[in-house]
Amino acid sequence: MDKTRLFAVLILKEVLDGSRWSNRLLPEFRNRLPYAERGRLTELVMGTIKMKLRLDWTVERYLRGYKLSDLTPLIRNVLRLATYEILFLEKVPEYASVKEGVNLARRFGHRGVASLANAVLRKIAAGKPVPQEPWILHSHPEWLYRRWAAAYGQEIALSIMEDNNRPSNFYVRVNTSRISPEDFREKLRSLGIDYREVPELEEALQIFSFREELADLRGLFTVQDLSSQVVSRFLAPDKKRVIYDLAAAPGGKTTHVAEIIEDEGIIVALDRYRSRIKTLRKRSGELGHGSIYPVVGDLLKPPLRALADFILLDVPCSGTGTLKRHPEIKWRLKPEDIPKLARYQLKLLERASGLLRDGGIIVYSTCTLELEENEGVVENFLRNNPEFRLSEDADDNLKGFMDGPYLRVNGIVNRSDWTFAARLRKKTP
Ligand SMILES: C[S@@+](CC[C@H](N)C(=O)[O-])C[C@H]1O[C@@H](n2cnc3c(N)ncnc32)[C@H](O)[C@@H]1O
Repeated sequence: MDKTRLFAVLILKEVLDGSRWSNRLLPEFRNRLPYAERGRLTELVMGTIKMKLRLDWTVERYLRGYKLSDLTPLIRNVLRLATYEILFLEKVPEYASVKEGVNLARRFGHRGVASLANAVLRKIAAGKPVPQEPWILHSHPEWLYRRWAAAYGQEIALSIMEDNNRPSNFYVRVNTSRISPEDFREKLRSLGIDYREVPELEEALQIFSFREELADLRGLFTVQDLSSQVVSRFLAPDKKRVIYDLAAAPGGKTTHVAEIIEDEGIIVALDRYRSRIKTLRKRSGELGHGSIYPVVGDLLKPPLRALADFILLDVPCSGTGTLKRHPEIKWRLKPEDIPKLARYQLKLLERASGLLRDGGIIVYSTCTLELEENEGVVENFLRNNPEFRLSEDADDNLKGFMDGPYLRVNGIVNRSDWTFAARLRKKTP
């Protein structure tokens, strides 16, 4: 029995038919496999999650009146995995995918289930049907495809879906309070690790290797997508000021801000969840930052009185800009979640803005493609709060990420997640 496929099915069952997250489960199983197999496990799991709708459509064509929901979760995911291999992994011989699928079906079901799997998988390998509907072809919920087509046009909606089905990219941020980007790159070269520099951001590097291989460099870097690194740069905080990060955990951006101000200043990092603040505290300890003051609290009942010079508000959002890395989001999100989130985000922005001094800067950011949560929230806020205006004076290096007055990191162009941010200044009376 192939252990990698077995692990893939166990993870898929928890993610697609349960509520676990792939980025939590994958590392647990990867560590139990030899190095050479780890990439394959990730590819099988992420590929199957991404293509779920297309796979289900394909399998159900051959189930002769049955639905996948009539089968047990384990068998469902055995069929999804084997179908993914047959349709999308050219380097794996089809007979091997069918045979291993049947072996797994036998392991998790009775003999009848194994012969059903055999019949279905052979027919899929022979037929390889292609759906007409673009959302099935590219495996996204229809409502999400239609939303993007309405917001960005059909062509862009199609390229977003195609790009979401590619593997995600792996970025790190050099901890510039401990090592210069040049010396860090030298260390990577001496470890034989390939990387790509990002012209706009000297601390950002795309790494072509596994996270595990960077273990020797602990404390010298943070794993963080390029799109998130751009946001803290967009805040462009000055040293020796009071900075609030009001939706801070697990602290990816807080620790970046500490590095930008060279640890000179006060950063209050607020989050409502104690466990997430614990992670933030651990991270900032490992990176060696002394300027961060973690606080557990609800921004809607802020435990803070003093006013800040700079505020970062990286709100909870639908996350549709992160589907390359977190594909299960698209199967869990519902259309009605978007307006609910937008209302919550506006409330958070209203509260946060009350904690800013006159002349101060607040950055509102999300990792979603949904206009309602992005410029929708900002425009509503500006209508109710005329003492704020969009600030133009961002970091010059970020010009390439600007879309009019907003920062919009395009996930396709930049090989990253999508990010939106608005930089607002409170007028001085
Ligand atoms: C997008 S995440 C922040 C990610 C973080 N900025 C980073 O870069 O690592 C949003 C955070 O907002 C927090 N949050 C949501 N509602 C909140 C509230 N009312 N008060 C404080 N934090 C809140 C969530 O717990 C979550 O950690």
